[in-house]
Amino acid sequence: MADKKVALITGSARGIGKACAIELAKAGYDIVVNDIEVNAEVANATAAELKAFGVDSYAVLFDVTKKEAVEKGIEDIMAKSGRIDVLVNNAGITRDNLLIRMPADMWEAVINTNLSSAFYVSQPVVKVMMKQRFGAIVNMASISGVYGNAGQVNYSSAKAGLIGMTKTLAKELGSRNIRVNAVAPGFIKTPMTENLQLDGLVEHIPMRRLGEAEDVAKAVKFLAADTDYITGQVLQVDGGLVI
Ligand code: NAI
Repeated sequence: MADKKVALITGSARGIGKACAIELAKAGYDIVVNDIEVNAEVANATAAELKAFGVDSYAVLFDVTKKEAVEKGIEDIMAKSGRIDVLVNNAGITRDNLLIRMPADMWEAVINTNLSSAFYVSQPVVKVMMKQRFGAIVNMASISGVYGNAGQVNYSSAKAGLIGMTKTLAKELGSRNIRVNAVAPGFIKTPMTENLQLDGLVEHIPMRRLGEAEDVAKAVKFLAADTDYITGQVLQVDGGLVI
């Protein structure tokens, strides 16, 4: 059993997930990096990097859309670390198109990766947390799920679903001392947004800049580790975006 608290962050080989892993490692958590098999090299490199913060870290590769693979992955983590104190449901993808042009497979891929994944991962992890009588879950939503966003019917539906899941699980699990919150990032500089058309966008952001992955990670770390009495909340990390 790990002597430090353990945090599992899905999709954390790179991007916002990796930034969350760094913030939680700085806070003294052992870190389980998760990503898909094809990113094994990057995921292992991220885990190696995190050890510089004086914590244990290793990668467990599974696809969050595959229920059996997820369950096996959680079993492997329990065999190795014996506990999971923090879960960040971060893995996500975009496949943008207008409703009238969106093939069903684009809809399904985004719903599976951004929403069903949180169900598959949270279920076995919550069983662990219930036994511990302790745990914190942070779901990576998006302002797209709060306000809607033309061209993202699949993504905004998934992220709005994640917000519903957050509020329901907060109610189901509060008495077990398990808190469930969400962050809703605005426009954050990562590979996911590098092809985004930015003209005129910054004018809608009072902070007059895109967010950095670290800006989101600080909010995740706050909700996961710095509070004991906040649950069922959605914290927007968007520079004050007005749309
Ligand atoms: P990213 O594409 O840089 O990183 C996502 C990671 O998730 C990748 O390493 C990817 O391999 C992994 N992943 C994808 N599918 C997976 C699966 N089935 N199983 C396991 N891992 C999988 O994206 P970014 O920007 O870091 O996004 C992270 C989260 O933040 C996502 O949920 C995204 O929707 C959300 N977000 C991002 C915003 C942005 O502006 N970049 C804004 C709002 C939310």
